[in-house]
Amino acid sequence: MMAPHSEVENEENIVRLPAPEKPRMSESPPRLIIIGAGSRGNAYARALGEATNGICAAVVEPIAYKRQALGRAYIWGDDGQPADGQEFEDWQDFVAWEEARRAKQAAGKEVPEGVDGAFICVQDELHKSVILGLEKLNIHIMCEKPLATNLSDCIDIYKSLLPLDSSKAPGRLFSVGHVLRYSPHNMLLRKLLLEDKVIGDILSVNHTEPVGWWHFAHSYVRGNWRKESTSAPSLLTKSCHDIDVLLWLLSSPPPNSSLPRHLPSNVSSLGARQFFSKHRKPAAAKSATNCLSCPHEPDCMFSAKKIYVGNDLRGLGSGNTGWPVKIVVPDIEDYLATSGRTAGEEAILKELAADYDANTPADEISKKNWFGRCVWESDNDVCDDQVVTMTWDNDDNASAGDGRGPKIAQFHMVSFTAKI
Ligand SMILES: NC(=O)c1ccc[n+]([C@@H]2O[C@H](COP(=O)([O-])OP(=O)(O)OC[C@H]3O[C@@H](n4cnc5c(N)ncnc54)[C@H](O)[C@@H]3O)[C@@H](O)[C@H]2O)c1
Repeated sequence: MMAPHSEVENEENIVRLPAPEKPRMSESPPRLIIIGAGSRGNAYARALGEATNGICAAVVEPIAYKRQALGRAYIWGDDGQPADGQEFEDWQDFVAWEEARRAKQAAGKEVPEGVDGAFICVQDELHKSVILGLEKLNIHIMCEKPLATNLSDCIDIYKSLLPLDSSKAPGRLFSVGHVLRYSPHNMLLRKLLLEDKVIGDILSVNHTEPVGWWHFAHSYVRGNWRKESTSAPSLLTKSCHDIDVLLWLLSSPPPNSSLPRHLPSNVSSLGARQFFSKHRKPAAAKSATNCLSCPHEPDCMFSAKKIYVGNDLRGLGSGNTGWPVKIVVPDIEDYLATSGRTAGEEAILKELAADYDANTPADEISKKNWFGRCVWESDNDVCDDQVVTMTWDNDDNASAGDGRGPKIAQFHMVSFTAKI
């Protein structure tokens, strides 16, 4: 069941390239607002302090616990209180506040500092409304991937970002969180392939994305990204990074080149939900729909109890309180700090016990994550195995050595791997 390239022997021997050094702080460092204080919002807030010369200035998040936890950790400190303009429950409140602040400033009144840019870290389907909503503020934006969940939203976003005067360069930055482009090893790989040409022309690429069996169960069977109707296909929500990297390596010209992109001539894809479906449910699980009441649970590798509470993966028993444990119980650290380990475990088990049945309204089922749900009984419909083939024709206008000859790239997203 293992995909190729999914195992690395002697992982401790891997040489990891260092991240670029943190730049020196300027006299007026860029000030950023985090919109959505979930996993990614926290990752950017932390990275701002650790790796950039920017400041995490404000947070938008409807869930009070998450908002305050991010604020305490990265904005106003453990002993501080949020000042005016440092926390908002909804991005629309922030937009209204910022407009009022600018109006007061224009009238010569003293006002708190505003922000220069925003990290949009809300769920995929909200990206478009937040980007369009921030439009009038004309600030820099980094939006998490995927940009949007359908083509028409992408086009609306693109149009909204075009400068009014097309003869002028845009006055602000807009980027999408295709973070693989910024990992030191991928930056080095691109330099070696496109600038140093260490292996000459690229003719054929075989790229596998090993999602990891329990990561897939967490995010794409029980979690946020399990249904196309409420999220998007897994090729988009998970593998847009990989497709982006392939195009970055094979279509985008090297830095300082005047050549246009060399786009693929053909793209085809096949995929299916092959594994995580009811017909694979072991008979021993009988009619159980939740791990906590399942007779097969002790023998099931997908047991939610093992994944979130156990010692072997990244459950609480392994000492982990971050992802994925924190996704099930966001305030797990508070439970441990105030009431101890047993209370933390009980909080996770209580959440895992939540289940739905034939009487539960459909929208209640679809808007919530069900982390204790049997992986063979979930309402997931996204592909767990998918291949993409891209082919490039020769660019007849290019010169030999430009790397614009015919080539093929094969991509395989597979969930059944040990490595994540
Ligand atoms: N770049 C990557 O590698 C990577 C990895 C994982 C996820 N993502 C993407 O990042 C985004 C966020 O994912 P996540 O895992 O952090 O999700 P998450 O659910 O942990 O966080 C989203 C947060 O947005 C909040 N929110 C909801 N409505 C809001 C509103 N109106 N205003 C402000 N906040 C609001 C939610 O309460 C939640 O806390 C998604 O688009 C996801 O696809 C990117």
